[in-house]
Amino acid sequence: MSKTQVFFGDQNGCDSAAVILRRGGLVAFPTETVYGLGGDARCDRAVARIFDAKGRPSFNPLIAHVADADTAWTLAHPTEAARTLAARFWPGALTMVLPMRDDAGVSPLVTAGGDSLALRVPAHDTARRLLRAFGGPLAAPSANPSGRISPTVAAHVLDGLDGRIDGVVDDGACAVGVESTIVDLRATPRLLRAGGIPAEALAEALGAPLAVGGDDATPVAPGQLSSHYAPRGRVRLNATSAQKGEVMLGFGDVPGDLTLSAGGDLTEAAATLFARLHDLDAMGADRIAVAPIPDHGLGLAINDRLRRAAAPR
Ligand code: TXA
Ligand code: MG
Repeated sequence: MSKTQVFFGDQNGCDSAAVILRRGGLVAFPTETVYGLGGDARCDRAVARIFDAKGRPSFNPLIAHVADADTAWTLAHPTEAARTLAARFWPGALTMVLPMRDDAGVSPLVTAGGDSLALRVPAHDTARRLLRAFGGPLAAPSANPSGRISPTVAAHVLDGLDGRIDGVVDDGACAVGVESTIVDLRATPRLLRAGGIPAEALAEALGAPLAVGGDDATPVAPGQLSSHYAPRGRVRLNATSAQKGEVMLGFGDVPGDLTLSAGGDLTEAAATLFARLHDLDAMGADRIAVAPIPDHGLGLAINDRLRRAAAPR
């Protein structure tokens, strides 16, 4: 493949990117969570190329991104809880797994052959501009090689995928910084992945706590393989100081060579997490110690990503 083209996030840039997408090409684009690697969700060839570019196992399904909830309901059947959450959190960092409609027209590669579809309406202006210019659903996993750190700036995308994808729409840094929260709404609402919308906020909107994780009937999001979001170095969690040879990633009162948030702010920590992991790679850190992060709100998503970064490979 030829060199990856870089577009601005303005109307011109999005129109040019949409032309590539309509031809079955792949274009990475910013969302408020992380950069996604977009391809036409209705086109087998485009979706197959997404898996190929990322080196992603084909049993791991993709999220379909759409411009609004009405479009989402043309692809999947909303439950009452889904309508409630859509009204409150879309556009935003929430992905809902729902029964796919028979006439959805989505490539079976998107759902890995299953009959449920993961749907998200992103809030980022540029993502919305691109979705409107394209005029259909975009399958978009995070725009990183499978198993590596998710990209929160266009340079991360190019680091991992330059030459493997047709384009990237560059619109600066992602404000949320961790991926969307994934909820399975086919039965009792179940949290499949902690993410940019705190589980507590979803529970409050639903008036009931979410079930968590997989059971026999509902395996967790298959993409949640244990080693993931991995920097090159070995990661040690809940460290209050660095041991010899470690680079320290601090938080709040625990200082470090780098910090997620000196003020102990979880929103800032989520927004900077992946950039700091990329920085640690760039520094050549081969042993990394990470300060404790409180396990509530966005801290749940941060700790989930850190545990995967620390998992044995
Ligand atoms: O914030 C995000 O969600 C970003 C941006 C680009 O939207 N996307 C993202 O995609 O994180 P990805 O592919 O890295 O993660 C999608 C997750 C995977 O763990 C996958 O297994 C799960 O969603 N998933 C997709 N379809 C599913 C389905 N039908 N049932 C259960 N899990 C599903
Ligand atoms: Mg990912």
